[in-house]
Amino acid sequence: MTQFVTIPKIGAAGAFREKARRFLNEGVPPEEITWGGAESPRGLFDTSAEAVSTKPIRVPRSFLSMAETVVWHSDADRFARLYALLWRLKNEPHLMSDRGDATVAKLRMLEKNVHRCQQKMKAFVRFREISEPNAARRSFAAWFEPTHFTVEPTAPFFQRRFADMDWRIVTPDVSAIFVDGYLRFEEGAERPALPDDTSEGLWITYFQNIFNPARVKVQAMTSEMPRKYWKNLPEAASIPQMIAEAPARARKMAEAAPTLPPARMQKVQAGLADHNSAWTGLPEEMLQELQSCTRCPLYSSATQAVPGEGPEDAALFVVGEQPGDQEDLHGRPFVGPAGQLFDVIAQSAGLDRSRVYVTNAVKHFKFTPRGKRRIHQRPNSSEVLHCRWWLGQELDRIKPKLVIAMGSTAALALTGSGEKLLSRRGSIETTSAGLRVLVTVHPAYLLRLPDNNVRAEATEAFRGDLVRAVREVSLVAT
Ligand code: URA
Repeated sequence: MTQFVTIPKIGAAGAFREKARRFLNEGVPPEEITWGGAESPRGLFDTSAEAVSTKPIRVPRSFLSMAETVVWHSDADRFARLYALLWRLKNEPHLMSDRGDATVAKLRMLEKNVHRCQQKMKAFVRFREISEPNAARRSFAAWFEPTHFTVEPTAPFFQRRFADMDWRIVTPDVSAIFVDGYLRFEEGAERPALPDDTSEGLWITYFQNIFNPARVKVQAMTSEMPRKYWKNLPEAASIPQMIAEAPARARKMAEAAPTLPPARMQKVQAGLADHNSAWTGLPEEMLQELQSCTRCPLYSSATQAVPGEGPEDAALFVVGEQPGDQEDLHGRPFVGPAGQLFDVIAQSAGLDRSRVYVTNAVKHFKFTPRGKRRIHQRPNSSEVLHCRWWLGQELDRIKPKLVIAMGSTAALALTGSGEKLLSRRGSIETTSAGLRVLVTVHPAYLLRLPDNNVRAEATEAFRGDLVRAVREVSLVAT
């Protein structure tokens, strides 16, 4: 006799577990069960009553973790497939490690699909603020159309991340609602009318900044950010135009590529190499003196030394690693791609760059030539130590309230510690002179992260560090 089972959309994992346990206990074979999804979300199936009457059964851990993911797939046969495998596991306990078994392989694929869908959800949900005036907590809402029923298993991620605000993620099937610290799920709904997002401009600028026209791979891009998500992503609106313009932009970049120092610089450098680098002059002469620095060999191939810049009374003092290709040519810090990304994130953090002193731990560009290009090389600890003298001069002159060390080279130069950066990110350390140093990542690190989710999270953490720095010195962007 066939038994009909309905699994609700909300709480499907627990419901399936209890139902399957009961059938297994009672020895009901897979062919006698017809599994179906619920028309309405809850109540068709009272899991708690049945749970009491069932005995625990032993099931491989690997099956449990796979089943907990697969239940959220949109495949209509997912429950039947899971129960069929569970039934066979009674007599074939090693089945889970049989890669050739068709049922296991199919379920593994469904599991992968759900994981991927969860990743996309984490990366592409965009909240809009819907706070009421004077409300105690800020409120946000997002509309999302996942391929599978991933709202429920992914909601804890958003709960952890946005614990101090109220939010809801509305989808056509199930909605997650987080109010006053409590998470609940409701039946899905139609797309709500949502206000424009004030931070949309930031996302668009950020996306345009990290878009490299010389590396456009449309197929790889659409696999990372499938077209179906574009309509709900503010930054995606500019993709077609950026792809269309990419060949011309890449050509322009290639034509502008010869970034080797002008030939006359060799002469200048030869002259500078003769200078004694010991500095005893007036403060105003320091810049000239920096150009004659020969404390380490890096002066010999760089175009020029790149001094820090910013107001003499800056409360905030930002330190990077060393000038890059563009900085070396322009003689100014943070004007290349990493600098541009820094500017975008700093602005969104309320940090006004014109009120901050920006410099580098090492003042000369270190690189190896490759064809027409100069490839950045990290300075070694001896170069960092030699250049520390200049950093010390700048710190003595500016006397900031707080220093931000961006990246491990800056952290080493400022604190003397070469400990791993990611374990120190967000901590406040001190220089030997007792100045407070907030340790964070370098913007170039964000540009290099290949995974969208990881990059978005790291960017947010970096932005958080800048917000904190601004608060610490009470700098408010004008
Ligand atoms: N990276 C740095 O650390 N400093 C710059 O000035 C540019 C890129």
